[in-house]
Amino acid sequence: MTVINSALDTAGSDYRANRETMLAKLDELTAEHAKALAGGGPKYVERHRKRGKLLARERIELLLDPDTPFLELSPLAAWGSEYPVGGSLVTGVGVVEGVECLITANDPTVRGGASNPWSLKKALRANDIALANRLPCISLVESGGADLPSQKEIFIPGGAIFRDLTRLSAAGIPTVAVVFGNSTAGGAYVPGMSDHVIMVKERAKVFLGGPPLVKMATGEESDDESLGGAEMHARVSGLADYFAVDEPDALRQARRVVARLNHRKAYGDPPLAEPPKYAADELLGIVPGDLKTPFDPREVIARIVDASDFDEFKPLYGTSLTTGWAALHGYPIGILANAQGVLFSAESQKAAQFIQLANQRDIPLLFLHNTTGYMVGKEYEQGGIIKHGAMMINAVSNSRVPHLSVLMGASYGAGHYGMCGRAYDPRFLFAWPSAKSAVMGPQQLAGVLSIVARQSAAAKGQPYDDEADAALRAMVEQQIESESLPMFLSGRLYDDGVIDPRDTRTVLGLCLSAIHTAPYEGARGGFGVFRM
Ligand code: COA
Repeated sequence: MTVINSALDTAGSDYRANRETMLAKLDELTAEHAKALAGGGPKYVERHRKRGKLLARERIELLLDPDTPFLELSPLAAWGSEYPVGGSLVTGVGVVEGVECLITANDPTVRGGASNPWSLKKALRANDIALANRLPCISLVESGGADLPSQKEIFIPGGAIFRDLTRLSAAGIPTVAVVFGNSTAGGAYVPGMSDHVIMVKERAKVFLGGPPLVKMATGEESDDESLGGAEMHARVSGLADYFAVDEPDALRQARRVVARLNHRKAYGDPPLAEPPKYAADELLGIVPGDLKTPFDPREVIARIVDASDFDEFKPLYGTSLTTGWAALHGYPIGILANAQGVLFSAESQKAAQFIQLANQRDIPLLFLHNTTGYMVGKEYEQGGIIKHGAMMINAVSNSRVPHLSVLMGASYGAGHYGMCGRAYDPRFLFAWPSAKSAVMGPQQLAGVLSIVARQSAAAKGQPYDDEADAALRAMVEQQIESESLPMFLSGRLYDDGVIDPRDTRTVLGLCLSAIHTAPYEGARGGFGVFRM
């Protein structure tokens, strides 16, 4: 074994300061998560309960195997937007009858569970995860359909929800809909497109048009039950496969459906793993509050991989990027972690080689981000930094082993791309509260804008107002800083959630287990042309 020898001074003042900064950020995160958990607030939660209904997360809890975890995804969706935090939808991965499933649940306490643009993004992301990892998809439905005032943002792209359901089915990935309430108009196609449908007595309302619309369209007098009640669909239309007497019965029946899916994981469970030699709690004190100060990612690796055992690849070459092999909860992984922030030519080439090796060996990759991007400057341009960065981006783009990304600190510029940022389709991507991501750092961006404005004024022969420039720089800096923060980025679904660093090993273990539901094979060739 090659156990990492930690040099973290847990008694030192740096460690204490880092830890305090991280804990303060975690407090802010908890407050934002609480908003998602509160749904539509006490008034609507109480009304929902008075109707004898369970909340979205209570439904999920009853669906899951007892005492098993639920990896909730994108809880901060819609953060910073005009819509409530959480996007009126709960999504995540959990175990039902021993089968890892992708679960979505409308939150009917938030504007009737209607879908706004962020709910849609969140739902589509959940479908992508189900498809990539072959996870059966269970929809717990109770929604007012499209959020009508924002229909222009969702009506046309929203068709993808129903398309995805049937594509999942076509790919042999089971889909189950449990209808607890309203599922009308477009929403009727969620049960309509699902493989298995359960409806709750006197609660489910599944029709293309409700009584008022029918009256307007054809003059026919009708009522909810005869148009779209559970009993009608179970006995007459045949849309419901199972009739549930109440919500717990519906969830019990959903569990029976999953038990009979015969859905098998592509890989057996890995051997029982030895925990890291160092405490996860110490992950709080590694990342400095000021990301300009570098930190050693081996200290992070030592606290997340099995037995802190890490075989470093090319440790003497391209030392600003640490690469190496480890296992996490028994799953073999290759790790790429930024060490000094900047990616030079050697780091880029090392990464490209390492990614190819992982593909030859069918080993998933974990990217631990703390990069300010690829190095700029005459020496580096002349040394071919564009070619070498392109090699790394080529390798990561065409790699076919599953990727996981964690933004620990900075994730700026094309460095975010080379390290498998969101656009490079990592199977899962999480951020720590200490992360920041943008095209470049706020000061650099404000400085570039100022230089460009000064040159433009000079070219026109106009005087340059230095006072206005200072004010503009300060404003831009502040704006870019706030747009680089993890809650803002998570709100826009640029990650799958902001996590407590202490949970990293658990979260990644759950992801790796979900990933191993689907078979994968590394790319043996099929990379783009590597520009030498
Ligand atoms: N778009 C925007 N807001 C919606 C909405 C929708 N589709 N559906 C409900 N809301 C809002 C309501 O206006 C209400 O807001 P308020 O509390 O500020 O007054 C809030 O959500 C709760 O709705 P309410 O009707 O009080 O809840 P309910 O639980 O009694 O009924 C529904 C829920 C979904 C059955 C009912 O609101 C409804 O029929 N909505 C319209 C459904 C529809 O036709 N959607 C279009 C389908 S494509």
